[in-house]
Amino acid sequence: MTEYQVIDSEQTVYRDGTIKLHGPEGFEGMRKAGRLAAEILDELTGFIAPGVTTQDIDDKVRGMMLDAGAVPATLGYRGYTHSCCTSINHVICHGIPGDKALKDGDIVNIDVTPLLDGWHGDTSRMYFAGEPSLKARKLVDVTYECLMLGIEAAGKPGARLGDIGAAIEAHASQFRYGVVREFCGHGLGRLFHDAPEVIHAGQAGTGPLLKPGMFFTIEPMINLGKPWAKVLGDGWTAVTRDKSLSAQFEHSLGITENGIEIFTKSPKGLDKPPY
Ligand code: MF3
Ligand code: CO
Ligand code: CO
Repeated sequence: MTEYQVIDSEQTVYRDGTIKLHGPEGFEGMRKAGRLAAEILDELTGFIAPGVTTQDIDDKVRGMMLDAGAVPATLGYRGYTHSCCTSINHVICHGIPGDKALKDGDIVNIDVTPLLDGWHGDTSRMYFAGEPSLKARKLVDVTYECLMLGIEAAGKPGARLGDIGAAIEAHASQFRYGVVREFCGHGLGRLFHDAPEVIHAGQAGTGPLLKPGMFFTIEPMINLGKPWAKVLGDGWTAVTRDKSLSAQFEHSLGITENGIEIFTKSPKGLDKPPY
């Protein structure tokens, strides 16, 4: 049985397994946090190039968040000590920024979550360093399409959670790509990670109804090869077991009375590379 909990604006919320349903204040808060997150990703488009280190990216992200009066939600989150995640090539997600420089042909996901006035804006995009291979660019395009098809499915009247994964999996499998199952989208709002888990594969018509006021992410991770993931010894970095390339895009979303609102849409239309 899925439990929903209607949230009034000032109430403290807990990770108690309930799906939160937010009102107008929640939408206002998420719009601001989401817009800031998207502006940060927009700003990075001019910065990503061969030779730039992932620590340089992290420093720039942290600076932009602090300048805007936000804090990086990842900083100190479960022992994570960076302001974003930078996942290069066969890294699926949670790549830790460091002194590694981007090389010509790399594809990199940058995932940012500013916490602004108590609300989390969680979004990621892919970037190209120099000129990636045709197969890398195809993977990135299809992964973006997977995200947008998942959003479209979630925005239909009467949609259920399982419709999202079904739409994503149907598209990815046309290209024989692997959909990662170990990491999911998630409810968010005043909490960074909350119910429900948004699995990027599955069966249409199953799972909880998507109700107005629900906030969650969709963040498909799509592998050029098999779907299998493993986490490295640092406890964070998730990589493809078969070392194949992996791509990801993420938006923070809110269900409305007549569809879906994307809180983290690029104000400049810089939705996917090449930028
Ligand atoms: N932003 C990631 C997500 O999409 C979570 C990163 S948690 C971290 O859910 F600690 F690894 F940064
Ligand atoms: Co997320
Ligand atoms: Co994220």
